[in-house]
Amino acid sequence: VLTMNELDLKGQRVLIREDLNVPVKNGQVSSDARILAALPTIKLALEKGAAVMVCSHLGRPEEGVFSEENSLAPVAAYLSKALGRDVPLVRDYLGGVTVQPGELVLLENVRFNQGEKKNTDTLAQEYAALCDVFVMDAFGTAHRAQGSTHGVAKFAKVACAGPLLAAELDALAKALDKPARPMAAIVAGSKVSTKLDVLNALSEKCDQLIVGGGIANTFLAAAGLPVGKSLYEADLLDTAKAIAAKVSVPLPVDVVVAKAFAEDAEATVKLVADVAEDDMILDIGPQTAAQFAELLKASGTILWNGPVGVFEFDQFGEGTKALALAIADSPAFSIAGGGDTLAAIDKYAVAQQISYISTGGGAFLEFVEGKVLPAVEVLESRAQ
Ligand code: 3PG
Repeated sequence: VLTMNELDLKGQRVLIREDLNVPVKNGQVSSDARILAALPTIKLALEKGAAVMVCSHLGRPEEGVFSEENSLAPVAAYLSKALGRDVPLVRDYLGGVTVQPGELVLLENVRFNQGEKKNTDTLAQEYAALCDVFVMDAFGTAHRAQGSTHGVAKFAKVACAGPLLAAELDALAKALDKPARPMAAIVAGSKVSTKLDVLNALSEKCDQLIVGGGIANTFLAAAGLPVGKSLYEADLLDTAKAIAAKVSVPLPVDVVVAKAFAEDAEATVKLVADVAEDDMILDIGPQTAAQFAELLKASGTILWNGPVGVFEFDQFGEGTKALALAIADSPAFSIAGGGDTLAAIDKYAVAQQISYISTGGGAFLEFVEGKVLPAVEVLESRAQ
């Protein structure tokens, strides 16, 4: 695809789609990872002398109605501070925006616009008319075929990929297309059913598939091991067996259990075989963590999605911590993605030692599943 770096943007009106869908608490941005990832693209466009309009969605508001709750005002405030310049938030922009070369404005939440979700040509043409160049840089929203991610790219005079989108695609391709062997993947989360496509796709690609959380419980149950009253999916035991027949799925030998899912619940380490009927498995045990850590340290590629325990409660976070530190220590090319995974990376302060941290949640998973991201596909067809 055509990339922004290749273009002369001097004096051009440039519309950049970013994924600035960040958590907001009490009117303040509470996690800035996505904004920090977008900043180099915005700065580069300004340095190139473009008149810059940045757009994004925030949350899932009702279309056609403005709501304070989903306003990008906190993001505009954050950007103003980060860039040391006023970044005006423009509410009515579909008829045109006045912005000079070297200037930057943020356009209000695209999901307030009628037709954004349905990706109507009318709205897409209105976006396209705002700019000379459309830059798709929102990897986190590239799996959505919406007006500001897909439709606009069909109609814009020039449509290209921004540096962040390009970097995300490169990192994912490096991990998935020709991974340095052996390749290990960690897929954890509450349900096999919601990550089934990811598990299946990775079972064809990686050498070791480490599972965690409720997913691991389903694999344990499928192997005939006791899981007590842990979360697991009884109807997916055959599915788990079929996956374990395709790829090595190392199962925990010990686990951390509790009698209740609670912040003050007492944590007990047990061998898997000793899990009692009233036990809930809430983390992997220390022996298992040590085994998995060895495996990760000996890997050439690591793909990480999901914490292996209830790490929000410290007493069930040791397993996730051990794996986070092992990934950090490993010489492997490591890539991590997904909201909970990023929170764990923050908690255990390993961000610097992970080769690439994706800004995508759903988009990251869809890419791993081998699905075509519509917002990337349209750029590819424009490039031909
Ligand atoms: C995300 O947070 O995964 C992206 O911003 C996409 O948001 P959406 O699921 O509301 O489309």
